[in-house]
Amino acid sequence: MDRTLLPAKRLVGTITLPGDKSVSHRYAMLASLAEGRSVITNYSTGADCASTLACMGAMGVPYTHEGTTVSIDGVGLRGLRPPAEPLDAGNSGTTIRLLSGILAGQPFETTIGGDESLSKRPMKRIITPLQEMGARIDAREGTFPPLTIHGGSVRPIRYELPMASAQVKTAVLFAGLFADGTTTAVEPLETRNHSEIALRQFGAAVSVDHGAVSVEGNPRLAGQILRVPSDVSSAAFFIAAALLLPGSELRIEGVGLNPTRTALLDVLNEMGAAIEIQLDAGDGELTGTLVVRGGGELEGGEISGAVTAAVIDEVPMLAVLGAVSRKGLKIRDAAELRVKETDRIATVADNLRRMGAKVTTHDDGIDIAGNTKLKGAALESYGDHRIAMAFTVAALAADGPSTMANAEAASVSFPEFYDLLEQVTGKAS
Ligand code: S3P
Repeated sequence: MDRTLLPAKRLVGTITLPGDKSVSHRYAMLASLAEGRSVITNYSTGADCASTLACMGAMGVPYTHEGTTVSIDGVGLRGLRPPAEPLDAGNSGTTIRLLSGILAGQPFETTIGGDESLSKRPMKRIITPLQEMGARIDAREGTFPPLTIHGGSVRPIRYELPMASAQVKTAVLFAGLFADGTTTAVEPLETRNHSEIALRQFGAAVSVDHGAVSVEGNPRLAGQILRVPSDVSSAAFFIAAALLLPGSELRIEGVGLNPTRTALLDVLNEMGAAIEIQLDAGDGELTGTLVVRGGGELEGGEISGAVTAAVIDEVPMLAVLGAVSRKGLKIRDAAELRVKETDRIATVADNLRRMGAKVTTHDDGIDIAGNTKLKGAALESYGDHRIAMAFTVAALAADGPSTMANAEAASVSFPEFYDLLEQVTGKAS
């Protein structure tokens, strides 16, 4: 569906965003393996996290899902049953990669696949360590879904990740739950640590030592009552919209502020953005309120190395801000973007060019010239939720109307995106 996007003057208001996608997946999987009932509130409303729940349900886990509250009757660590049909991860890389770790430990064979985009995403990165642990995994061309996982008795390993990936780390740790002894995943760079936090919340023993994350096998996981923090990667679109439009003042409450997820705020503050952070009290996942004031000039600059890895999901939005910044933005060490829901280096460059920005792409990054006056344009999400949302925000700051083809892709992570934007701008569409 094409959506018309009109420029907006400013964003004003107080909003609360839906639950974090990464945390929701982990809570749903671990609650399924726990003993007793878990009640998870503010569960992500995105299609990806619904895919995870449906997969757990297909393996005999009873659950109810009403609004944003999910109640799961855990079947215990060894209680999953073989699904009657292949599991469907939809568009969700997190579902297939994390669940593969759990499936590697099951005494049955499972096939798991997904949509067209997921069927093109590389799985070798999880197949390699899970095979080292003793699972046998068949994949198209050795890497692409659907995967058929012949699980069983897995052994503990110490695995050095060749890339910074929380999904790979988690696949190894989740398989380690079914191994006798200690399983360790060693990260080259720190990635989001929601699995470590969630494993502890459900009762597993996890230790972290200079990038080496270890979990003890055969834990007794217990059902929990947990609230998912609001998704900071979804907040990124509203933060950027407020920064782009002078006179904006936006308060975003209950946002997940786990330090492994907030590099975007550091990058934006370095670029000169006015973002105030007020932390909430509490344990588990850190949360707080963000207050964003719009209209100041953004500096631009360069991001690379560990910073790029830490803002990987926010690059499409940062790229748009880079185009209007004073110096422009260079992004490097971002080859991982080529294997996300779309090749995000290509899809970002394409949409930026449609809006009149000067862009050069590289194998591992993109150079965006600054001082661009964004033009209204016919934009294309390519079915990628973050591309749809990043360029919808860009369109708010354009000199005339735009259209977004396939705008509904946003619902993969954030179905309320357009309604909320309308609420705070009064004229998002
Ligand atoms: C995620 C990890 C990241 C991220 C994705 C969610 C997770 O992927 O891009 O949106 O929940 O573990 P990689 O592990 O491939 O870097």
